[in-house]
Amino acid sequence: MLTGPALARFRKNLLAWFSQFQRDLPWRRSKDPYRIWLSEIMLQQTRVATAIPYYERFLEAFPDVHALAEAPQEEVLRLWSGLGYYSRARNLQKAAQQIVALHNGVFPATEAEALALPGVGKYTAAAILSMAYGQKLAVLDGNVARVLARLQAIRGDLRAGIRWQELQKSAEALLAPRAPGDWNQAMMELGAILCTPKLPQCLLCPVSEFCAARKLGLADTIPEKRKKRATVELQLAAAVLLDPQGHTLLLPPPKPKAGPARKADVGAIVSRMWHFPTIEVHRDAALELRANLEESLRRGHKFSAPLERLPKVRHTVTYRSITLLPFRMKLKKLPQISGAKVLPLSDLSSVPISNLTRKIARAALDS
Ligand code: ADE
Repeated sequence: MLTGPALARFRKNLLAWFSQFQRDLPWRRSKDPYRIWLSEIMLQQTRVATAIPYYERFLEAFPDVHALAEAPQEEVLRLWSGLGYYSRARNLQKAAQQIVALHNGVFPATEAEALALPGVGKYTAAAILSMAYGQKLAVLDGNVARVLARLQAIRGDLRAGIRWQELQKSAEALLAPRAPGDWNQAMMELGAILCTPKLPQCLLCPVSEFCAARKLGLADTIPEKRKKRATVELQLAAAVLLDPQGHTLLLPPPKPKAGPARKADVGAIVSRMWHFPTIEVHRDAALELRANLEESLRRGHKFSAPLERLPKVRHTVTYRSITLLPFRMKLKKLPQISGAKVLPLSDLSSVPISNLTRKIARAALDS
């Protein structure tokens, strides 16, 4: 790793580049730990461009940690609706409640206390504490790991074995101690806009002179591709029941199942949010769905209306690859189900729904 004058020049070049070329992102305009925290949680599994409008709407609804702690969970989920990985929103609110109860409403300033909050791991703690409080903690995420691996021409799977720990050590060795927050963001920014997974733009890179992968002609083959977990293919069918006024029926968020996750845990697939009646199907989707609807919504009584097949919807969540077959059934009157909600199909925004449910509603409206 770099030391002495080379390290000093590396830091200076990267910080100068960051100061000139960084993107103007809403969370960079503030040192408020609450805002930085919110942005980091949103950015864990979401791209910057997608996160921005959510970030702004969320802050409008919950401008500070107290507002978030006191809000109904449904409202928090509703504002997260569409971002995916909803445990992030649930943990965010639990953490807000802890911050109010234990830390006087101020995001804690030590790494140990930050790590004790739900949803805050090593990366997130380092990001928030360095950016909000100037603490000397180095972040390591996918972008930073790629930059570090190229700098040192590290081959192999970066997440395997002790390699990730070694990368963490090199991130710490490089950290500019007088500007840890800017430094961390500069490393991430370099990974996000120049030192990208495909077609890295070495000619524009402010630190290419230090890069071993570039010297060896390996910049576009490092890091090695990760072996993906095998995907599980699932076939689901969902029912969009529709009355003459354009109202539909959504079922309430399913409770988490105890024990190991089953292959088709529909509750998890609909992200524990409001959803259309949905089941896993194996052979004849329409037949199986009809039987299930009659059983679960009408205590065995038949529906006379046909199930109209709508265009299928593809959806991927982590390792599950889902083919969803939506069906529409036009009814004179929706069944009355305790706990269910009747809403206009064209506007389900009053309750939290997942992207899958949004896609089904779209398919039903477009047909
Ligand atoms: N990804 C994670 N944190 C980020 C940040 N602060 N700015 C841009 N992208 C990020």
